[in-house]
Amino acid sequence: MKTRAAITAVGGYVPEKVLTNADLEKMVDTNDQWIRERTGIEERRILDEDRATSDMAVEAIKDALSRTAYGPEDLDLIICSTVSPDFVYPATANIIADKLGAKQAWSFDMNAACSGFLYALRTGTQFVESGMHQRVMVVGADTMSIRIDYEDRNTCILFGDGAGAVLLEPNTDGLGIIDSEFAVDGSGAQYLYQKTGGSKYPVTEERIRNKEQFVYQDGRTVFRYAVSGMADITELVMKRNQLSSEDVAFLVPHQANKRIIDATARRAGLPPEKVMVNIQRYGNTTNGTIPLCLWEWQDQLQAGDNLLLAAFGGGFAWGSIYLKWAINPA
Ligand code: UT7
Repeated sequence: MKTRAAITAVGGYVPEKVLTNADLEKMVDTNDQWIRERTGIEERRILDEDRATSDMAVEAIKDALSRTAYGPEDLDLIICSTVSPDFVYPATANIIADKLGAKQAWSFDMNAACSGFLYALRTGTQFVESGMHQRVMVVGADTMSIRIDYEDRNTCILFGDGAGAVLLEPNTDGLGIIDSEFAVDGSGAQYLYQKTGGSKYPVTEERIRNKEQFVYQDGRTVFRYAVSGMADITELVMKRNQLSSEDVAFLVPHQANKRIIDATARRAGLPPEKVMVNIQRYGNTTNGTIPLCLWEWQDQLQAGDNLLLAAFGGGFAWGSIYLKWAINPA
């Protein structure tokens, strides 16, 4: 049977510090009811200032490895998807590999904004399917709190910090990543981006004063594109694989807004109990959302379960992955 890349371990990490809607009420003109009704978020986690994205990623990977017989030195490749790297360069993945002691691994970062984890998972899959690597760690990690202006009520209510990691290994029993579809529309860049810090608008004092180092989002426009983009691409992957809603064990959606998740689930014909949702506790952790869902739900999954992963985000970049779960609960 064809060699596929299967997820054989999942790990996660969220910081201890909690930022609740009540806390935000004291910081900006907002209220708990508005945030819950418009987004589904109740609280999010915030990383301590003396720690960085690589620290969360290392914790998540250690957690994943602790569920296997492997150590860091057994990893062939580490791919980190993030929009909040420790530095502009070098790659955060390299720092992660060093902190872990993954001496045999090479590593690189990927950035596809909120869809980054799916892009990295698909990329890692190629290395396993081709036979080039046996053990690929894919980690999605973001310290969104450094990207947020906590005086901007349009964005500060949405985001949180966290990391999730999955180990990919070859599988010849028909389990693992089966199919995927991705799409981008670069003309959407203006609706969700960080203006300064790159080569187009290098950092200046004036740009910092104008708060251009923080997330800018035209929420209404992104929402409109996200609802149709995520539902369309998920439906396409279901149809191509002749999957009915009964065949799907869980939808694993990017956690940006509960209303976007609900719209995608409705279109896929999936009832709420088949949809992983933890946005109420973590908010939007960007690259962390999907692996953190897998982390929290892993005990409820059986080998052979059909999962549909779906994301939409800045770029615009969006996608969906269909996989057959390969782990039985311990
Ligand atoms: O993960 C990356 C992809 N990102 C997304 O998918 C996010 C997509 N967008 C969204 O999730 C939603 O657009 C938001 C949650 C960001 C905003 O929700 P919305 O229902 O689109 O609200 P809105 O921007 O249309 O604003 C409605 C009203 C406005 O007041 P007026 O103009 O109607 O008087 C806002 O000023 O709500 C006001 N508002 C708030 N009120 C209380 C905006 N933010 C807040 C707030 N608290 N935090």
